[in-house]
Amino acid sequence: MRTVTCNNLHLLIISSILVIFSAYSASSDLDVLLKLKSSMIGPNGSGLKDWTPSSSPSAHCSFSGVSCNQDSRVVSLNVSFERLFGTISPEIGLLNKLVNLTVSNVNLTGRLPSEMGNLTSLKVLNISGNVFDGNFPGEIVIGMAELETLDAYNNNFTGPLPGEIVRLKNLKHLSLGGNYFTGEILESYSEIQSLEYLGLNGNQLKGKVPAFLSKLKNLKKIYIGYFNSFYGEIPHEFGTLSNLEVLDMASCNISGKIPTSLSQLKHLHSLFLQVNRLTGHITPELSGSISLMNLDLSNNGLTGEIPESFSALTNITLIHLFNNNLYGQIPAFFGDFPNLDILQVWGNNFTGALPKNLGRNGKLKILDVTKNHFTGTIPRDLCKGGRLQTLILMDNFFSGPIPEELGECKSLVKIRAMKNFLNGTIPAGMFNLPLMNMIELNDNNLSGELPRNMSGEAFIQLRLDNNNISGKIPPGIGNLSSLNVLFLQNNRLDGEIPETIFNLKLISIINIAGNNISGKISSSFSSCSSLTSVDFSRNSLSGKITKGVSQLRDLSLLNLSRNQLTGSIPSEISHMISLVTLDLSYNDFIGTVPVGGQFLAFNESSFAGNPHLCLPHNAPCPSLENTAEHSGQCRRPSFSISKLVITVVALVTSLI
Ligand SMILES: *[C@@H]1O[C@H](CO)[C@@H](O)[C@H](O)[C@H]1NC(C)=O
Ligand SMILES: *[C@@H]1O[C@H](CO)[C@@H](O)[C@H](O)[C@H]1NC(C)=O
Ligand SMILES: *[C@@H]1O[C@H](CO)[C@@H](O)[C@H](O)[C@H]1NC(C)=O
Ligand SMILES: *[C@@H]1O[C@H](CO)[C@@H](O)[C@H](O)[C@H]1NC(C)=O
Ligand SMILES: *[C@@H]1O[C@H](CO)[C@@H](O)[C@H](O)[C@H]1NC(C)=O
Ligand SMILES: *[C@@H]1O[C@H](CO)[C@@H](O)[C@H](O)[C@H]1NC(C)=O
Ligand SMILES: *[C@@H]1O[C@H](CO)[C@@H](O)[C@H](O)[C@H]1NC(C)=O
Ligand SMILES: *[C@@H]1O[C@H](CO)[C@@H](O)[C@H](O)[C@H]1NC(C)=O
Ligand SMILES: *[C@@H]1O[C@H](CO)[C@@H](O)[C@H](O)[C@H]1NC(C)=O
Ligand SMILES: *[C@@H]1O[C@H](CO)[C@@H](O)[C@H](O)[C@H]1NC(C)=O
Ligand SMILES: *[C@@H]1O[C@H](CO)[C@@H](O)[C@H](O)[C@H]1NC(C)=O
Ligand SMILES: *[C@@H]1O[C@H](CO)[C@@H](O)[C@H](O)[C@H]1NC(C)=O
Repeated sequence: MRTVTCNNLHLLIISSILVIFSAYSASSDLDVLLKLKSSMIGPNGSGLKDWTPSSSPSAHCSFSGVSCNQDSRVVSLNVSFERLFGTISPEIGLLNKLVNLTVSNVNLTGRLPSEMGNLTSLKVLNISGNVFDGNFPGEIVIGMAELETLDAYNNNFTGPLPGEIVRLKNLKHLSLGGNYFTGEILESYSEIQSLEYLGLNGNQLKGKVPAFLSKLKNLKKIYIGYFNSFYGEIPHEFGTLSNLEVLDMASCNISGKIPTSLSQLKHLHSLFLQVNRLTGHITPELSGSISLMNLDLSNNGLTGEIPESFSALTNITLIHLFNNNLYGQIPAFFGDFPNLDILQVWGNNFTGALPKNLGRNGKLKILDVTKNHFTGTIPRDLCKGGRLQTLILMDNFFSGPIPEELGECKSLVKIRAMKNFLNGTIPAGMFNLPLMNMIELNDNNLSGELPRNMSGEAFIQLRLDNNNISGKIPPGIGNLSSLNVLFLQNNRLDGEIPETIFNLKLISIINIAGNNISGKISSSFSSCSSLTSVDFSRNSLSGKITKGVSQLRDLSLLNLSRNQLTGSIPSEISHMISLVTLDLSYNDFIGTVPVGGQFLAFNESSFAGNPHLCLPHNAPCPSLENTAEHSGQCRRPSFSISKLVITVVALVTSLI
């Protein structure tokens, strides 16, 4: 019994010690977290609101972002997406049971404390999206034998890449991208055989293209482009990385041809090689990478045609070939790719018509073929799936009508098809699309009338200038309440300026020049307080300019030339300090041009061709009152007439 009692006592003592010890270490983790908090939120920050002192030994285990083991020791800490302003304090080294440590996108600064080297159980260390700086302290990872993920993406680290990482035999995910690392990619990185993800993109690395990475047979994703600048070609050895899914070598100065060996990459779904110095033809063998979904070869020096073999790439979703020297046709099979949603081929020398099936897959979202030599008509089914957002066809030789179907395309945000040979009437529905914010159809041969109804409240820019559009400007235009820019010049529009146009409170530029618009300029004109540029020239407008125009505080260009406007020029205009260009020439204004103010900036040509208007320095000029707007004439014409008489007399005299 005694022994037993004694044993019991022993147990009791031991367990009390254990309890005390664990309570001690638990409260110590709580203390550590509170210390971390005070350094992380910095002097002015807020956040981590529920991290508060407590007498309960496991209180910290329910802090947000914290989880503990049975002993109330912190095993996982996740502080992400808060606005903190501080640093990581050295006490973090005391949380030595940590398995997952994520302190991401919280704007922490300073150096990583060397005490982090005590976190030897870590599997995940994620400090991405902060502004830690200085050299990356490689020594802290040496003891982290279990580390699988090291994510330091988007910080301010400088200096060479840390060599110590090579010792991490379980490392699968290494992201040191988005920093200011310099020097070369260490050849020793080819020893991290466990590596599946390598992100060194967005640094200032240089040297030879790192062919040795082809030794990392488990690699699935390689990101080494953007701001890095290597010399040499894409290593043909990369073709042996049979697990590779993503190869991103965009914008890193690589040259030469795309190696045929890439055809062996049967799992490759994304190949990003844009913004480099690649030359030669597009490698036809690339079609062997049958999983390809994203192919970006834009901004290179590639030439030749799109290979016929590409018809095998049936999973393709994105094709970027823009800004190369490619020519030939867009193959018809592009229209049959079942998942193609983004096709951008602008800035090449492509010819022929677009595949007529384009869009029939119901997936097309973005099509941009600007600046090629395309001919033929716009395919009908571009918006068949109701997903088309951006349609850019400008600077080509497209002809024929704009398909009516586009007028039903509720997803459409932008259509830019200027500088083509499109004809026919613009589909009425296009002015009623809920998301549409930009229509640019200028410099075509569109005709017909604009629809009565317009309801597109998202419209910001509407350019229909240089076409053959006839009829009236519909009052419905006043419903385009977000409109900023309206270009209708050089068409065959007639009728009056609809009063509703002056409901457009955000309108900044109106140009209706070169039509046959008649009637008066309404005094509500002055309520469009955002106007910066107004061109009503070359129409048949009549009546007077209201002095209210001077309320347009941002107006810098006012061109009313070549109309039949009359009355005197309101002197208030001379106070419009924003006005840089004024053209009132070839009208029928009367009286005297106001003196001073902004008028000092305008020369006589602004007022030419108004036979009844006098310029102030051609004095004496009858005062405005005397001009009596009905009968008024100033004397300049009679001066000219008398000069003419004298000249004629002189001429006649000299002839005699
Ligand atoms: C903290 O706020 C005070 C007063 O609001 C300001 O003077 C100080 O510059 C701020 N410090 C930091 C680091 O933002
Ligand atoms: C650490 O995170 C991984 C996922 O990234 C998760 O599977 C694991 O359970 C976490 N471990 C702990 C101790 O929280
Ligand atoms: C960490 O927290 C953020 C935001 O609270 C969350 O989005 C993210 O999924 C979390 N990460 C992990 C590994 O739990
Ligand atoms: C990050 O912190 C700096 C100062 O430490 C501050 O100027 C900056 O606005 C912060 N950025 C964000 C996104 O909170
Ligand atoms: C933690 O790290 C510091 C500095 O690296 C070291 O001096 C200390 O002994 C370590 N503590 C433990 C418990 O490992
Ligand atoms: C690191 O954390 C951020 C924010 O929680 C997350 O978006 C990112 O995916 C994480 N990195 C890894 C490799 O899991
Ligand atoms: C990060 O580095 C960039 C470039 O050197 C610098 O402009 C920026 O101010 C740095 N940010 C911080 C918070 O140190
Ligand atoms: C970029 O590529 C060109 C052509 O291959 C080469 O001459 C140049 O040295 C490279 N630049 C760098 C920084 O490696
Ligand atoms: C194409 O995509 C489908 C669905 O994502 C997938 O099941 C199939 O394996 C892919 N085909 C190829 C050749 O990668
Ligand atoms: C198109 O081809 C012409 C000659 O055929 C060439 O001068 C021009 O540079 C090419 N344009 C592009 C973008 O490749
Ligand atoms: C459009 O132009 C084509 C020739 O390119 C012509 O056949 C057709 O009649 C024109 N349509 C209209 C409405 O002018
Ligand atoms: C534009 O269309 C009209 C008929 O609407 C036609 O007479 C004219 O030739 C066409 N102009 C061009 C450049 O195609």
